[in-house]
Amino acid sequence: MTSALTATIDLDAIAHNVDVLRTTAGADVLAVVKADAYGHGALPVARAALAAGATELGVAHITEALALRQAGIDAHVTSWLHGARADFDSAIAHDIDIAVSSSRQLAAVIDAARRRSETATVTVKVDTGLNRSGVAAEDWSDVAEMLAKARADGAVEVRAIMCHLARGDEPDHPLNSLQADRLDEAAADLRRLGAGPEVMHIANSPAALTRPDLARDLVRPGIALYGRTPIPELGDFGLVPAMTLEADIVLIKELAAGDGVSYNHTWIAPSDTRIGVVSAGYADGVPRLLSGVIAVRVNGRTFRGVGRICMDQLVIDLGADGGGVREGDRAELFGTGRDGGPTAKDWADAIGTIDYEIVTGIGRRAERVYVGGGRAGAGHG
Ligand SMILES: Cc1ncc(COP(=O)(O)O)c(C=O)c1O
Repeated sequence: MTSALTATIDLDAIAHNVDVLRTTAGADVLAVVKADAYGHGALPVARAALAAGATELGVAHITEALALRQAGIDAHVTSWLHGARADFDSAIAHDIDIAVSSSRQLAAVIDAARRRSETATVTVKVDTGLNRSGVAAEDWSDVAEMLAKARADGAVEVRAIMCHLARGDEPDHPLNSLQADRLDEAAADLRRLGAGPEVMHIANSPAALTRPDLARDLVRPGIALYGRTPIPELGDFGLVPAMTLEADIVLIKELAAGDGVSYNHTWIAPSDTRIGVVSAGYADGVPRLLSGVIAVRVNGRTFRGVGRICMDQLVIDLGADGGGVREGDRAELFGTGRDGGPTAKDWADAIGTIDYEIVTGIGRRAERVYVGGGRAGAGHG
């Protein structure tokens, strides 16, 4: 490991979290590995999740699904977000399950299947109340009829029906059950037309952990796989965070009282002190809004960031005695939070966002280092 900035991914934590999800939901797990597995690395995470018993994978873009196939992953992969130029031909050729959200998308998939004289595997994604992607209510009867017809002539196999919850992180909200009822009705419509889906899935992480009654055949968790609680008010559900972000202390300097630090000298040393320069910045996904707020751990002690966070580096105040920190020591920017260490959620809370955005935002310059994963094989990704 040579990088001054590393994101260590604990594949045993991923495996543990798959177990927690499967047991709590009482259903099989479709592991959501879109956005490079929420920044954790799609391939190693996909392998670890499958080895731990997840039965399927899910991504947004077909390109993400194809990358999994190209790496030799032959598990069922569903892809659910398609632009106007989506490559349905390649998706069909590589046996990707194409989740369609409109009659226009379905027509394009059917065209591609007929052109190739192959059967496309299709999931129908129904908008049951999120009002984002998914088949809109007014498009539903057209889509259902098209699916039935295309299934009858062999252009598609209707493998699954899915929807996404708007308020999954509010477990008792009536919209959750209403969305499930609407999906059940849509599935019944398809069955009446002879195009019954084999598989149904609704639940994201929060629903998988709190609403087993919504689980149907599969749950479709993302953030919980990575060990981050989707409903912090309800605790951690026994999940273990998988990513620890660490950076080198590249320089240590003495400052005199009155010296300013970093761009525009937004922090002036109130007394003589020592500072440490940490090799992580906003290009690596450390939000600049954390300037003066971030706290990092070095050798078990917490030090506060001072001055502006820059593109590649940030500065911490080590205090007059230097805190025992030396150049080459490692600063933990966030990790499991055990022993009171900093977490991605601390960052998110400090700047008014969610830890999903923090972990997915960790840049590629942070070398991903994989540990654990006895069931999947560890190594550098
Ligand atoms: C369609 C779909 N299903 C499941 C998920 C996983 O959600 P979560 O990370 O909250 O479990 C996502 C992520 O946004 C999604 O878009």
